[in-house]
Amino acid sequence: MTSNGPPTQLGQIPTELALTERQLDPFPWYETMRETAPVRYDEKRDCWDIFRYNDIDTVLCNHEQFSSRLSSTDGSTRGTSPGERKDTMIRVDPPEHGRLRGPVDEHFTAGSLRNYRPELERLVDETLDKALADGSEIEIVSEVAFPITIGVIAELLGLPTNDRDQFIQWSRGMLPPQKTRGEDPRRERTNPVNKIHKYFEEIIDERKRNPGDGLISELVRYGEDGSRLTEKEVFDTCNLLLGAGHITSVSLLTSAIWMFAKHNIVPEIRDGSISLDSAVDEVLRYRSPLHTMPRITRTEVEVGDTQIPKGERVVAWIGSANRDEQEFETPAEFVPTRTPNRHIAFGAGAHYCLGAPLARLEADVALSKFFERVYEIEITTRKCEPIVHPTLHGIKSLQIDVGTEL
Ligand code: HEM
Repeated sequence: MTSNGPPTQLGQIPTELALTERQLDPFPWYETMRETAPVRYDEKRDCWDIFRYNDIDTVLCNHEQFSSRLSSTDGSTRGTSPGERKDTMIRVDPPEHGRLRGPVDEHFTAGSLRNYRPELERLVDETLDKALADGSEIEIVSEVAFPITIGVIAELLGLPTNDRDQFIQWSRGMLPPQKTRGEDPRRERTNPVNKIHKYFEEIIDERKRNPGDGLISELVRYGEDGSRLTEKEVFDTCNLLLGAGHITSVSLLTSAIWMFAKHNIVPEIRDGSISLDSAVDEVLRYRSPLHTMPRITRTEVEVGDTQIPKGERVVAWIGSANRDEQEFETPAEFVPTRTPNRHIAFGAGAHYCLGAPLARLEADVALSKFFERVYEIEITTRKCEPIVHPTLHGIKSLQIDVGTEL
């Protein structure tokens, strides 16, 4: 159970969640663990699981004791190929963390994203025009959530307009497989990530020679005073933004439409009697898009009443923290007007989600425009299929029938 042992299995799903139904509804297990074993060692995965809100908040806010510097053999699902060293901001601790996050940070504040809103509105309008053009049946993941979230990343990175369709096509291959209406069955599934990597390399090279608009140009230009990110760091940052920023937001948009329909609050969202912002926060709490965050102990630490030795892997179950009865009243209920709502779906501490203001903006624009046009939703998916993944939480697809304004 030490870091000198064989590669750990942080990227593995615990036995207790192995059944597909448990992936969709892990919450009864979380409740049992919060009550009976809030900090436990799992021999099979060689890591410590932490389930209570307060303990998890401490872990995430305390990088001196809980490091994010996991190696590629830690089985983390964040995209490092075996043997490859990848020091993105999410995998390093302060002060190195600040050097990598600093140049990107300023582009993701609520203030600087305000200028991006009109472009986002245009992207959402175009996507909804297309999705609603063919009648009343829509598959939300592939026709609404994915084109919006991936389109946003392509725009923010400043990818040339002519390349965007190809980029979107490759990125589709990163979504969990599903059957969708009108989809070409021959669609590209072979190694889309390699194609995206090659494309990023080419575009970074091009931007070095001919800087243009967008984040890639900014990053390449950044720090010409000597604090410049290396080319490899710019490349890793592009990959991180793509990986961290699109499937999470797809899950938020899909779960929001699913929850609003399931709990019959579409009319109240439309007329504003339930605030969209607070309802979105409740979706983030109730169906957090990420359920686990990995760390490694830098010293011997005490969590709750349990001693964890130095060099141990730790999994903070934020999906459980967000249902903790010590923090939330009636945590198992979906309460779209919940205040306060101190969920930690975006994490906490130094690694608090860089893209949180963007995810909130996407949800605000996409959902308000969606519900301006759609006044009624019937869920036609017979059985929601969960994404089966050690970190991600959500459903693979959501088929709905909508009533639209004339
Ligand atoms: C609903 C959508 C999202 C959720 C639930 C989410 C959740 C999270 C969480 C929990 C972390 C903390 C990781 C840790 O502590 O190890 C994180 C970090 C991060 N997220 Fe997000 N995220 C979302 C959307 C986005 C978007 C849209 C982007 C960018 C386009 C993004 C980029 C990042 C980056 C770069 C980090 C690393 C920050 C750091 O290490 O300092 N995320 N996210």
